[in-house]
Amino acid sequence: PAPGWEVEADVVVVGSGVAGLTVALRHAELDPAAKVLVVTKDVLSSGSTRWAQGGIAAVLDPADTPEEHLSDTLVAGVGLCDVKAVRTLVTEGPGALRRLMARGARFDRTPDGDLQLGREGGHRRDRIVHAGGDATGAEVQRALAEAVRASSSIEVIEHALVLDLLKDARGRAAGVTLHVMGEGARDGVGAVRAGAVVLATGGMGQVYAATTNPAVSTGDGVALALRAGAVVRDLEFVQFHPTVLWLGADSTGQQPLISEAVRGEGAFLIDHEGNAFMRGVHELADLAPRDVVAKAITRTMRRTGRDHVHLDGRHFGADLWATRFPTILAACREHGIDPVTEPIPVAPAAHYASGGVRTDLSGRTSIDGLYACGEVACTGVHGANRLASNSLLEGLVFAERIAADVHATAATRRIHAASPSASDPEVAAPAGDAVPSGLVDPRVRARVQAHMSRGSGVLRERESVAATARALRDARWTPVEVAPCTESWEATNLLTVATVLTAAAAARLETRGSHWREDFPDRDDDEWLGHLDVTLTEEGL
Ligand code: SIN
Repeated sequence: PAPGWEVEADVVVVGSGVAGLTVALRHAELDPAAKVLVVTKDVLSSGSTRWAQGGIAAVLDPADTPEEHLSDTLVAGVGLCDVKAVRTLVTEGPGALRRLMARGARFDRTPDGDLQLGREGGHRRDRIVHAGGDATGAEVQRALAEAVRASSSIEVIEHALVLDLLKDARGRAAGVTLHVMGEGARDGVGAVRAGAVVLATGGMGQVYAATTNPAVSTGDGVALALRAGAVVRDLEFVQFHPTVLWLGADSTGQQPLISEAVRGEGAFLIDHEGNAFMRGVHELADLAPRDVVAKAITRTMRRTGRDHVHLDGRHFGADLWATRFPTILAACREHGIDPVTEPIPVAPAAHYASGGVRTDLSGRTSIDGLYACGEVACTGVHGANRLASNSLLEGLVFAERIAADVHATAATRRIHAASPSASDPEVAAPAGDAVPSGLVDPRVRARVQAHMSRGSGVLRERESVAATARALRDARWTPVEVAPCTESWEATNLLTVATVLTAAAAARLETRGSHWREDFPDRDDDEWLGHLDVTLTEEGL
């Protein structure tokens, strides 16, 4: 649709979680005169960040070292991490965390006043900073949202769904088109012209039927980047969190997370007969990297013919549950489970996209002026499987780098952004086979989720991914004119990313990290120690 209104900004940030808000705040610190616009498709605090429980991994204990955090991250990533990116993450992490605290975030402390450090799967040291016991993301979101609201150079537009990238005549990012729902003069489809565009739209968990992600995590940034012709990397590596509260086989949508930190405190997984099945599977037992735990749970469920297992933390006692895990305790009790007296029924669910829009160490994508930060990005720090509590950390560290890069190159971009004539920017043409030719019916969302969980989920094999690909192609057909609204855009984006994810899952003929092929059960370093980059062309993938 043609834009009905237009605004200008020096930088437009799409998304309002830890990544987006940190870019905005850091840029405002570096250049208080610049106009930073944050657009978010719901309200400021509706993204995934506020749901994060476990915490933020950072080397703060004097006995710990960046080399050890690096090593744990590389082991979890199963050969596909970019070592330079991980080194950046672990060495710049503690500083980025301190700046987050300076911006107002408060974390749990010991009686001596030191930060309290927890442990999660794949970490060989206690290095997870947390807040409110298990409500870390809520505190991070609160602090950043308050800081953004207090900043005079950051403007926020809520209920603004970003549609497509605007490019200038030279192919550089020049802004975005967006659909604002019911916001006065900015109601309807409009355009933001900006010298730099930062995608911080979060994940795509909603491509699956059961996920820890909120309803807004519909892969919007990856779909936009694909339509614009950017390189997207490693979409097949979707991490399934081993333990969400099992609410019945038919439960769909966002599921309550049972943090790895619960296993970090000593809870352990048992089958229906009470056998602690992680012992003997991995030297770290219940604290093995999460792909190992998710696979062991899935195998146990198959062996026993059940659709869930249990997590036993009864030995914590009522006080520890109440002080360390108040959010989880409340969620369990709300569903009639009391973890103090009974094991919690749990099963794996889609949790985190380790791949995304490919970036360099400054968050630059393959399109000049377009940056990606946080879960939407593939910086190289996660490889085939993200290490627990490295995600908020990645958002913090790379947001600061992006703000610095945007600031450093602002002069050239400002001249450049001012120069195009009104007709220069255009919505990047939808290209290729994977992109539906128009908006799809909102009901396609449920079909995508069902097919993805059935064939491209935690377990994959040739026929299951091929059947999913066929079903996704059929789902594109829409019999009637579809009204442009959030639901139809989200369904279109979900269908786009599901199609590319499934193509990548079909292409990688090995099992590695969170990509589990039953017909290729082994890791194959001779053939597959590399990345799958996808760009859409007019011909398709
Ligand atoms: C958790 O608390 O288990 C989730 C942490 C993460 O995904 O990094």
